[in-house]
Amino acid sequence: MAKEELMRKLEERIKNCQKCPLGQLRTNAVPGAGSYEARVMFVGEAPGYWEDQKGLPFVGRAGKVLDELLAGIGLSRDEVYITNIVKCRPPENRDPTEDEIRACSPYLDRQIDIIRPKVIVPLGRHSMRYILEKFGFDPEPISKIHGKTFEAHTLFGKIVIMPMYHPAAALYRPPIREELRKDFAKLGEIINQSP
Ligand code: SF4
Ligand code: URA
Repeated sequence: MAKEELMRKLEERIKNCQKCPLGQLRTNAVPGAGSYEARVMFVGEAPGYWEDQKGLPFVGRAGKVLDELLAGIGLSRDEVYITNIVKCRPPENRDPTEDEIRACSPYLDRQIDIIRPKVIVPLGRHSMRYILEKFGFDPEPISKIHGKTFEAHTLFGKIVIMPMYHPAAALYRPPIREELRKDFAKLGEIINQSP
């Protein structure tokens, strides 16, 4: 089956999923958005209020920060793929629980297998921890490893993982926004280097 068809089927399953209690609380599940041919995949944490309303990832204020960072290195949303570890909104935007991450992360695993990105950018510490552990690395404090690269070998080739701060963390903290800007600049270089 072509990527497009595989992804559409997966998105349909996510939209109807009731594998964890968040399924009962959502307005819309948020499978992800962007290009199925993307070389870069961004993985946030979980939908917030606006994402739940619209069924799309990063459409609130953190999304605006993300858009600016992308534009800063000449990328638009339709060239990348953006998703989250947990696809339905946790109440009051609390952190996703271990159980919710365990229930939902197989969808992310599948998205990675279908899209086969060259670079994965986990946004924030929950996503960083999940992605690094998935590929056999030890998580570390995000303040220490943001902007560093980890090379993982998968069945479909080499993948570079570059954890970054969550864009929401930059909303009220200019120093974090500056770190994000620098990490994005580095991401831009990596993308330009690889064929
Ligand atoms: Fe299913 Fe994930 Fe939504 Fe839970 S959060 S209901 S596992 S899609
Ligand atoms: N924060 C996230 O982690 N994901 C979204 O989609 C929006 C805000």
